[in-house]
Amino acid sequence: MATTGTVQICVNEIVHHREVEARRRLGDFLREDLGLTGTHLPCEHGVCGVCTVLVDGTPRLSCLTLAMQADGTRVVTVEGLAHDPVLAALHKAFQEQHALQCGYCTPGFLIALAALFRRQPDATDEAIRETIDGIICRCTGYLPILQAAISARDKFIAR
Ligand code: FES
Ligand code: FES
Repeated sequence: MATTGTVQICVNEIVHHREVEARRRLGDFLREDLGLTGTHLPCEHGVCGVCTVLVDGTPRLSCLTLAMQADGTRVVTVEGLAHDPVLAALHKAFQEQHALQCGYCTPGFLIALAALFRRQPDATDEAIRETIDGIICRCTGYLPILQAAISARDKFIAR
């Protein structure tokens, strides 16, 4: 069985052709092969949700997705949303509501919430709760993150 293969993955609007090991995780591919260290992998086994990236517009755990499974897809990381107005709104609200402390979990929350608000700018509080439900933060107690998401929606996104 082949242990390596070639993938073509469009990451943040740049197409990459790379040889990867069959077991190379997408998160490691992004961080180590492409230098996109905004994606964090705290638990590395599908528990914390922090490593979430968008694959063809859908949030996916990059620690449980192989680079080979992303062959032919369009991947967006937190760096790829740098100029996205929804992310800018979330950034501002996170600052205002003190929704991060160490910041290690923040990329996961931002990606998941950006995906939600891009689909549904007027997402309900319940939809916001469900979206961030699977993402673990060890510092904030979650309430500031929920408040920041609601504030971003009300002040900037669903207007
Ligand atoms: S690093 Fe992927 S779920 Fe925790
Ligand atoms: S801000 Fe530290 S883990 Fe969330």
